[in-house]
Amino acid sequence: MTDLTIIGTGNMARGLAARAVAAGRSVQLLAHEDKAKADSLAAELDGKITTGVLGEQLTGALVIPAVYFDASRAIVEQYGDALTGKVYVDITNPVDFATFDSLSVPADSSAAEELQKATGAKVVKAFNTTFAATLSDGTVAGHPLDVLIAGDDAAATQAVVEFASAAGLNPVVVGPQRRARQLEHMGFLHILLSANEELPAYQWNSALKVVPAA
Ligand SMILES: NC(=O)c1ccc[n+]([C@@H]2O[C@H](COP(=O)([O-])OP(=O)(O)OC[C@H]3O[C@@H](n4cnc5c(N)ncnc54)[C@H](OP(=O)(O)O)[C@@H]3O)[C@@H](O)[C@H]2O)c1
Repeated sequence: MTDLTIIGTGNMARGLAARAVAAGRSVQLLAHEDKAKADSLAAELDGKITTGVLGEQLTGALVIPAVYFDASRAIVEQYGDALTGKVYVDITNPVDFATFDSLSVPADSSAAEELQKATGAKVVKAFNTTFAATLSDGTVAGHPLDVLIAGDDAAATQAVVEFASAAGLNPVVVGPQRRARQLEHMGFLHILLSANEELPAYQWNSALKVVPAA
């Protein structure tokens, strides 16, 4: 068993694996198809990381598919009952890339809720509002990243809180799983800021933070 399974070897997989290593957590890193990509990332990060490819048995108590929403749906279908009881961390921003003007999920739902309909895993929304580049050291302008978290299962939500906290980040539980709707729109807004070349201070390296009163 490992603490986490991270699926994918792209930008978010790299950032999340870096935070997991910083937290001293063990990671199963599954590449999409090419194990060499997982081996290469594991060698770079130098932590407790085992590698494999998608389809192998999941060893992590927390499973974090660091892939786009469509691939997440396919992963849920592929693993089926093997996901039941796991904590599934949904990090996706289901942007409709055809229009870049809306999300691809129904207005009265979210990627997290759509995935929950298809799996016996406990789906927790988290990390969709943290940009990959900022996860490498977990701070922006000296501030630890807020990890906004939405979940229905208290133990599963707490497991994500503990991971974020151990990774040096600032977990904030925003409410039940349906709050993922708001988190996904927040994530999309942040993406739109970064995609706007007239805003050079927001180029995929900024952070969304709720500053507490004291
Ligand atoms: N980038 C960010 O700052 C950021 C921030 C918050 C949330 N997110 C969300 O995080 C997710 C990943 O984003 P990213 O920027 O890390 O993307 P990315 O760098 O493009 O990485 C995507 C990963 O998905 C894998 N993949 C592609 N198709 C797949 C499939 N059918 N099944 C399994 N794996 C597949 C790719 O593997 P191969 O390349 O080997 O095919 C790659 O490892 C997205 O849902 C995004 O909305 C991103």
